[in-house]
Amino acid sequence: MPTLTILVGTMYGGALDVAEQVKPLFEQAGYSVAISEQPTIDDLTNSQDLTLFCVSTTGSGDYPGNFVAFVRGLQEKSPSLTSLRYGLIALGDSSYGDTFCGAGRALDALLADHGATRLGERLEVDAMETFMADDAAIPWVEEWIESQQLKVA
Ligand SMILES: Cc1cc2nc3c(=O)[nH]c(=O)nc-3n(C[C@H](O)[C@H](O)[C@H](O)COP(=O)(O)O)c2cc1C
Repeated sequence: MPTLTILVGTMYGGALDVAEQVKPLFEQAGYSVAISEQPTIDDLTNSQDLTLFCVSTTGSGDYPGNFVAFVRGLQEKSPSLTSLRYGLIALGDSSYGDTFCGAGRALDALLADHGATRLGERLEVDAMETFMADDAAIPWVEEWIESQQLKVA
């Protein structure tokens, strides 16, 4: 059974909640799902199958605290991620203006710099429009699995 790893960056738990809510959708699609709240570079380089990032933004376009060491490691070790296929759900709030979903956007650019391939478009969930991020994330994941032909069961 292929593995889907969900790497979570969160301050207040919203992104973790999204990960937990979408987990059954991937299980139904034939994946064994692992959620990592303390992601490491090994999670990426060992990931043979599929990776989903659920990452919120804090401060002024900053990465959540639990995600900082991971990003620093990525910048310092600069591993090749050419075998990484990923999706990205960014949580943010458009009332923050220019830094809207800043962490998710910066992560996306960083992964691309390291040769990773994003499947489909990035989802940006705006807390100004969507009270519960799951309401946007669940239909997006259903569509993502369908459009990217990710179903294996
Ligand atoms: C102190 C603070 C700073 C924030 N800064 C930003 C920001 O710069 N850009 C943005 O898009 N959202 C920002 N947000 C909004 C959060 O990203 C949004 O509420 C998100 O849903 C929180 O997800 P989480 O529960 O996983 O941490 C901020 C929220 C707080 C409380």
